[in-house]
Amino acid sequence: MTTDRGEHGSTARTREEILEAHQQIHEVIQRLEEAPNLLELLARLQAFRSLLVPHFADEEAPDGFFDLVRAATSRHLVNVREFEHEHGALLDELDALAERARACLAGPVAEILKQSAELARRVRDHEARESALLVDALYVDVGGQ
Ligand SMILES: [Fe+2]
Repeated sequence: MTTDRGEHGSTARTREEILEAHQQIHEVIQRLEEAPNLLELLARLQAFRSLLVPHFADEEAPDGFFDLVRAATSRHLVNVREFEHEHGALLDELDALAERARACLAGPVAEILKQSAELARRVRDHEARESALLVDALYVDVGGQ
């Protein structure tokens, strides 16, 4: 988020841009909350990350959101420092969550899918053997009498 400090109205424009970016993030957060499964959650986390990284960088950049607040007043210096710190912490948390989702998909979820495929194979085989027995009992034996 950059601002043209040469014009009086630039602060208002920058504020609008910041609020618009936050609205966009709000919408992506909602998509994240509504992810119907782990695979989709992982995809949405990656999309969320690619939105957050440049957003955080814009806020931290020279003449960005934080500089704007610092230049306007010294009352919020502590808050700005906290927000800056939270940027890194939030991205770390997002990365850790995505890694856990990946590990879960590659481990427990993959194992359950494998067991499900094995169960399906066994039931199919079981039913096929029953059918074969039925044919044998009703037709082969009857035919043999
Ligand atoms: Fe922000």
